[in-house]
Amino acid sequence: MKDFLSLAQQRQSDRAYDTNRPVEREKIERVLEAARVAPSACNSQPWHFIVVDDPELKNKVADATSTRILGLNHFTKQAPVHILIVEEKVNLSSGFGGWVKKKDFAPIDIGIATAQLCLAAEDEGLGTCILGWFDENKIRKLLDIPDNKRVVLDVILGYSTQSERPKKRKDFQSVVSYNGYQTK
Ligand SMILES: Cc1cc2nc3c(=O)[nH]c(=O)nc-3n(C[C@H](O)[C@H](O)[C@H](O)COP(=O)(O)O)c2cc1C
Repeated sequence: MKDFLSLAQQRQSDRAYDTNRPVEREKIERVLEAARVAPSACNSQPWHFIVVDDPELKNKVADATSTRILGLNHFTKQAPVHILIVEEKVNLSSGFGGWVKKKDFAPIDIGIATAQLCLAAEDEGLGTCILGWFDENKIRKLLDIPDNKRVVLDVILGYSTQSERPKKRKDFQSVVSYNGYQTK
């Protein structure tokens, strides 16, 4: 079993997958359970997860995430599973708190649930890539999502064929300070 820090360090955005290996439903469900129990402002849980693992539908969803002109997200068809995260209404307390404090809590909550989902996937030996770039209207149509709902993220899931890359990150000292704001 991996310790949590190793899990966090090893998770990466995987952009190549074994196209012949589907993901077991039990694994998908464990990964989603990790997202379901994530914290959210006032326990609002403003999310809905749509699992797309039907191969034909999944390919249509993948097409809606990629653009040939910009060369973006060309790898997304390889992943056997796409999980679309739809933003749901926040509850009264979260909405009121967000209005008073001028903070939109729902996308923050969804980000946290997504992080838990990706780390749980890593723990299951699965690769993920979070996608923020996609044609939201096309996805709404394909998955019968009402027009007034935002589709915030698409997380793709599968058995990765990529090896581990070293992380490119800002230095620890430049993003952390003790007892006051200091940057280096
Ligand atoms: C909100 C969000 C949106 C992202 N959208 C995309 C995307 O559309 N396509 C993509 O290839 N990667 C996307 N990524 C992955 C980031 O590029 C990646 O997390 C970052 O470069 C760090 O690399 P790592 O995840 O491999 O550690 C997204 C990540 C986040 C958190």
